[in-house]
Formats: sequence, structure tokens, C-alpha cells
Amino acid sequence: MTGAGGQLGRALVEEFGDDEVVALTRAEWDVANPSPLVEAPDLVLHTAAWTNVDGAEDDPQGAAAVNVGGTANAAALGAPLVYYSTDYVFDGRKGAPYVESDSPNPLSAYGRSKLHGEAAAGDRAWIARTSWSFGETGRNFLLTMLRLGEERDEVAVVDDQRGCPTYVRHLAAATRELVELPFGIWHLAAAGDCTWADFADAIFEEAGLACRVRRISSGELGARAPRPACSVLRSERADAPSLPHWREGLRACLDRLGS
Ligand SMILES: NC(=O)c1ccc[n+]([C@@H]2O[C@H](COP(=O)([O-])OP(=O)(O)OC[C@H]3O[C@@H](n4cnc5c(N)ncnc54)[C@H](OP(=O)(O)O)[C@@H]3O)[C@@H](O)[C@H]2O)c1
Repeated sequence: MTGAGGQLGRALVEEFGDDEVVALTRAEWDVANPSPLVEAPDLVLHTAAWTNVDGAEDDPQGAAAVNVGGTANAAALGAPLVYYSTDYVFDGRKGAPYVESDSPNPLSAYGRSKLHGEAAAGDRAWIARTSWSFGETGRNFLLTMLRLGEERDEVAVVDDQRGCPTYVRHLAAATRELVELPFGIWHLAAAGDCTWADFADAIFEEAGLACRVRRISSGELGARAPRPACSVLRSERADAPSLPHWREGLRACLDRLGS
């Protein structure tokens, strides 16, 4: 497993805890370099990635070195590989949920690097596209909102981007099902969809925080990287693993944080 210190990496370490897992953090393997492993594993769960979407606009080559070059290095291990990709490979103009056969057209340097990473994963790979991930650790929207909700009476949140907030533990459980299925592209995102502002409202409601959400546009926020307006992911594949609703993921994550 690459990127084992990340939010998905940690969830996968728990999910695959009964297996013999070699979980490598960035300090143990910077995937921009060739693998330090001497023996080929049976399976590679490749979660390591440049995930700073706005930062990739300033350093697209740095993002590509990790997301494309790093994926080629992981594929060079010669084992079947799970590559985690993103809803940001789409431009968001479809106006309906994206399925596996839809054509990607990334708007951002991050999205382009992840799309090229899909190709670098090779033929013996599951391309697991997910969206708006959150968990108990690291940097994610849920943890940011919990912090701001404690500090402020009101937060301004974008209300013109729609996606599927996906709990990393639900994605880790779906990964277990995925590796029993044929290689190829699979959309693995939470059921249901919402805007970031809806998600923030739900976080404050479930966490019992009195903070108000002021709904703003992406233009008002002025983030460096453009994001798709609607990047809801659904699967058109009959045997695709199904994930619980995002609100169920939110409650499960808050429960774990609470305990
Ligand atoms: N987060 C989302 O909303 C989202 C949405 C769709 C898809 N994904 C994809 O899901 C996967 C898992 O992301 P995540 O949510 O777990 O993000 P994350 O918490 O940022 O984890 C990414 C991990 O990769 C590590 N990393 C970065 N550069 C590396 C390098 N050169 N070599 C080795 N490790 C490196 C990071 O280490 P440092 O912390 O030390 O940098 C971090 O531990 C990624 O492929 C991501 O593109 C994420």
C-alpha cells in the first residue's frame, strides 16, 4: 500500500488488517522514485497522490511527477493495482451523473494529472474513481468545517458545485469487493449527492454546532483551480460495489471522532 499515512491509506490499513499488509508512508516510499521493495506483492493499493488541487495549478509538473510518474512506478511492481482516481477528470457540463463510459475532460492540472495517472496504471488495474473524500484524519472538508464551526457564527461555503461526499471507510470496504471484480474503470462514490454548502449544513446539524452557512458562488470564493459544477459519480456496471449514502458516512465518521 502506498500513501499509507493519508486518510484513505489509514482506512485501508484497518480494512485489510487481517491480510499481510506492507503499508508504506511517503517517508518510506516517495513514489516519484522507483520502489524500494525487493519482492513483488500480490496486490498494490496505490493511494499516494498529490491531492492539493489548487497547488497543482502552480506546479503542474510536480503534481504529474507524483500522480503520473508515481503511478508508473507503482505499476512497475508488476502486481494487480488499485488506482484511486477522481470525479475531477470530468468537466461537470453533462448536467447528469457521470458513468464509467462518459468521456473525461479535466478542467484543472490536478484533474489532468489524475487522468494521465489512470493510463499509467496499466492494463492490470482497477481504476476506482471516487469523490469529495473525508475521514477522521488529515486535511478534509469535514474536519475544516468542524474547526470553523467551533470558532465562528457563520461560514461562507460554495453552493454551485455538486458531488458525492464519500467516507474513506466506506471506500475501503468497497475496495475489498472491487478486487474480486474485473479490471477497468469503476465509479465508487457515496449514494446521494449535495453541494458543499449542503454538506456543511449537514455537518453542523449532525455535530450540534450552531454555525450558519452563507451560500456563495465559486466565483466569490476565487479558488485557483477550476472545479466541475456537477461531478456526481454513478456506476453503470451491474456488479459495482454500492456505497452507503453520504449522510450515513457523515454520521459514522462523527461517531468515530466522538469516541
Ligand atoms: N481527497 C479527496 O477528496 C479525493 C477525491 C477523489 C479522489 N481522491 C484520490 O484518492 C486517493 C487518496 O487520497 P486521500 O484522500 O487519502 O488524500 P490524502 O489524505 O492527501 O493522502 C495522500 C497521501 O499521499 C501521500 N503522498 C503525497 N505525495 C507522495 C509521494 N510523492 N510519495 C508517496 N506518498 C505521497 C501524502 O503524504 P503527505 O501527507 O506527506 O503529503 C498522503 O499521505 C488519491 O489518489 C486521491 O487523488 C481523493
